[in-house]
Amino acid sequence: MNRSDVRVDQDFLHERISAVACDAVINCAAWTNVDAAETHVNEAWSINAKFPACLAKATDRLKIPLVHISTEAVFSGKSCSPYKESDTPDPISVYGQSKLAGEVAVLEENSRAIVARTSWLYSANSSSNFPSRLRSQLRAGQTEIPVVTDVIGNPTPAPLLAHAVGSSLWFGLSGGLYHVACQGAVSKCDWAKHLCTIWGFDSRVIVKTTTSDFRSPAPRSLHVDLNNAKFRAAGVIEMPHWKEASLRYWHDLWSERKIAEA
Ligand SMILES: NC(=O)c1ccc[n+]([C@@H]2O[C@H](COP(=O)([O-])OP(=O)(O)OC[C@H]3O[C@@H](n4cnc5c(N)ncnc54)[C@H](OP(=O)(O)O)[C@@H]3O)[C@@H](O)[C@H]2O)c1
Repeated sequence: MNRSDVRVDQDFLHERISAVACDAVINCAAWTNVDAAETHVNEAWSINAKFPACLAKATDRLKIPLVHISTEAVFSGKSCSPYKESDTPDPISVYGQSKLAGEVAVLEENSRAIVARTSWLYSANSSSNFPSRLRSQLRAGQTEIPVVTDVIGNPTPAPLLAHAVGSSLWFGLSGGLYHVACQGAVSKCDWAKHLCTIWGFDSRVIVKTTTSDFRSPAPRSLHVDLNNAKFRAAGVIEMPHWKEASLRYWHDLWSERKIAEA
């Protein structure tokens, strides 16, 4: 299915999914521009909440599971303890609020649905994620790169999330809400230093800063560490520590020569 299939129309979705005769649907479509969501509230709610609700109803009618990808931004980040699935979400941005509404609707409408909350996704295939932007700055020879120390999350390689989702469907994971992110939390600044080291750049170019030095239209959740014990206990796949996942991810890319060294 493609972009034109993202419609808030249950009957259309039912027909479209029936036509491809699939065993499950995975919804990765979302309004992900956190700042623009503050001024494009209807559009963000349409894609992040209303569309998944229709998709959940359509897949429920077809008696197939829906995997819906959600985000750590459903939490404010005001608690410094790791967040469990049973913790009450308290989103502080339109993006987080609309994604939470999507989660609730999906779980209400399809009992086979799996909501996979994840965090800080990255892959070398995207130019817009944090490692890709940092790598471009390093390769351009930038000598001072300010990175915030007060934003904390769980960096998770996108292919690992894909593997976790595929395996969940393959092993018939029960419907419900799961935190599917790497273990361990890190600040953006320490993550940047780690990336410099494994890519062979001097990590001293990373200069510590804080969010108070930046103004952004949408408030950001500062400290969200997703506790993934429920997903681990389900025994589908082991979500490793973010550092181990990172080393493995970049090593695999280098071995396959899909990325140039340093
Ligand atoms: N990136 C992260 O760090 C992160 C963290 C936690 C959770 N997530 C969740 O992971 C999922 C994927 O995020 P991502 O970072 O990969 O985002 P992304 O690169 O922005 O991808 C979003 C997808 O949604 C599609 N889309 C956006 N607006 C659309 C519209 N109006 N109609 C149809 N399709 C539309 C985009 O299509 P086009 O490519 O055609 O624009 C794109 O395929 C989302 O559910 C997000 O909430 C992401």
